[in-house]
Amino acid sequence: MISKCLSLEHQNVQALLERFKNFLQAHSITQQPDWTSHDAARIVADLKCALESNIPNHFAIEEQELFPIMVQEGYGDLIEVLLEDHKIIVELIEQIRPVVLKIFSSSVPLPQSNWEMFYRQGNALITELPAHAAKEDAGLMPALEECLDEVQAQEIYNHYQLLKLGKTCHT
Ligand SMILES: [Fe+2]
Ligand SMILES: [Fe+2]
Repeated sequence: MISKCLSLEHQNVQALLERFKNFLQAHSITQQPDWTSHDAARIVADLKCALESNIPNHFAIEEQELFPIMVQEGYGDLIEVLLEDHKIIVELIEQIRPVVLKIFSSSVPLPQSNWEMFYRQGNALITELPAHAAKEDAGLMPALEECLDEVQAQEIYNHYQLLKLGKTCHT
């Protein structure tokens, strides 16, 4: 079922953001990590995957296939809120992603201004994304289970698998 698949992805991204939070908390806005460390390399590779493919793919299937159905089903107000969240989160991702790619390709220290932006926007993402996922888990997923029949849900799930093939993670 597509809603179960998306809920599972919420849990996965939440676990990653929990690790990211601990990683940021182990440093400070004035002191960036040693990017050559094993810990840093692991979190950067996982963030790259999430920001380049997992989160954009997840948002794409929601926006392209699920939200329009839910608007038709009378959930327009909820979808408006969720789309507004997506906009805020996409803006954060667009700021954070270039820094992640930069660290991924070379683990030299970042210019201080880059690190400060990464630290601030990273913390904002850690707050915004789980709050958004919680709204979907509470409001969108039960509504989907109610509105989609099995064939529709399976079709959307299949489309999602195809969509993911077009944008997989390379680390
Ligand atoms: Fe969403
Ligand atoms: Fe979602």
